[in-house]
Amino acid sequence: MNLGVIGAGYVGLTTAVCLASIGHKISIFEINRLKAKQLENKNIPFYEEGIKELFEKVTSIGNLEISESLDYMVRNTEGCFICVGTPTGDNESIDLSQVIGSMNSLVEAIKNVKKNNYTIIIRSTVVPLTTRNKLLPLLKNLNGIQITLCIVPEFLREGQALDDFMNPDKIVIGSTDKSGEIFVKKIFDHFKDNVNFIITNPETAEMIKYTNNAFFSTLISFSNEIANISERIHGVDAFQVMDALISDKRITIKTDNQKIVPYLSTYLLPGCGFGGSCFPKDVKALTQHAISLGTKTPLLNAVLEINEERVMKIISLAEFLLGNLKGNQISILGLAFKPDTDDIRSSPAIEGIRLLQEKGANISAYDPKVNPESIIQIGINDVVFHENLEECLKNSVLAILFTKWPEFRTINGEFLSKHMINPIIIDGRGYLDRNQFQKKTYYKIGYAE
Ligand SMILES: NC(=O)c1ccc[n+]([C@@H]2O[C@H](COP(=O)([O-])OP(=O)(O)OC[C@H]3O[C@@H](n4cnc5c(N)ncnc54)[C@H](O)[C@@H]3O)[C@@H](O)[C@H]2O)c1
Repeated sequence: MNLGVIGAGYVGLTTAVCLASIGHKISIFEINRLKAKQLENKNIPFYEEGIKELFEKVTSIGNLEISESLDYMVRNTEGCFICVGTPTGDNESIDLSQVIGSMNSLVEAIKNVKKNNYTIIIRSTVVPLTTRNKLLPLLKNLNGIQITLCIVPEFLREGQALDDFMNPDKIVIGSTDKSGEIFVKKIFDHFKDNVNFIITNPETAEMIKYTNNAFFSTLISFSNEIANISERIHGVDAFQVMDALISDKRITIKTDNQKIVPYLSTYLLPGCGFGGSCFPKDVKALTQHAISLGTKTPLLNAVLEINEERVMKIISLAEFLLGNLKGNQISILGLAFKPDTDDIRSSPAIEGIRLLQEKGANISAYDPKVNPESIIQIGINDVVFHENLEECLKNSVLAILFTKWPEFRTINGEFLSKHMINPIIIDGRGYLDRNQFQKKTYYKIGYAE
């Protein structure tokens, strides 16, 4: 099929290259000319395992092209995915301006090129009733042109985006009419033998997406609340506590003497809080949306509150260990909100840097994938970025591990003594082996030394 994709961010580009790889002809339109130019030059504006190679492959066989205009894209396609951002807006509610802006421009283009029977598929995460109450009304005065609108939310995880797209557990189709459902099923026909198609109305589809993210965020905050309590009881290791919980037969299933540990156990771990472009903003958007609907979300409010306090706890521990942070050099290990991505949106490490700088600390940082430019762009200055871990640790009196990059796994006491002035580390993820450190040099969250 000939399909368009609007927005070449993590979701748009993944959608485009994956659909192109299963044989569709994709035309992608990105409003940011710098990003579009980068793509034309075969440079991917972000890091995601495998995407560069797949992008090169599908462009070389002519299945993916970068559109210069929406008119061009619409002329050559029969339907298109809207994959633009839905960031946090005023009062922590969802900012729909990119979705509404792109819908309006798309409808104009459809009218310009007099394209009939076009299908618009919302892929961005939008709060329930957005498609019906805010986007459907934009399809007015079409002079007889038929446009179908539906929402097909995306569930990919950054770092595993291609694999998630190519092996979906569900494809949720919330269509305003039957033709939308048929059209979307045709697009995803490649997956039909292995996937659960969930056919529903747009608002249920929207709610499914938020429920997914709210559920996993809740597991993380639950684990962090257990960590908060454990940190107050000398000798209790919250990681061991959560491990024991995971082994419960209601979570870890045993079949023929084989244990099946569900993937959700990776959310049942203490840490320095969830970040990224989805969990924090989507839980906030859902709680604010609930208020507008006249209901309360005490559980999700607590999920957010617990999350926001986690980084602060790490900074308090740093203060406790050093006495005063002013003028002290602290090494930040990992800037991305999780490994295998360069995404720093709502990353605990970034919040950590902000708080440490407020208290007068000097920051040196290392992340194997994050581009220092992206940190400067969000207004974080005076960070000295290093090309490797050893350089980053030099002259520091404290290191804080924020991201579970595999190369940090081997950090031990000897390594720190070799490279730091004062070999102390706070393990914000409980990632390192405590036995590899001398007393009073290793502090992990979820355990009071
Ligand atoms: N990133 C994830 O892991 C993930 C997973 C599932 C769902 N989502 C949802 O998908 C949506 C997109 O997320 P993302 O992380 O890809 O966002 P992003 O900010 O990385 O990318 C959005 C892109 O859309 C472009 N854009 C904005 N307005 C445009 C317009 N009018 N025309 C063309 N391009 C336009 C922006 O320039 C940007 O490049 C969001 O709603 C998000 O919540 C994200």
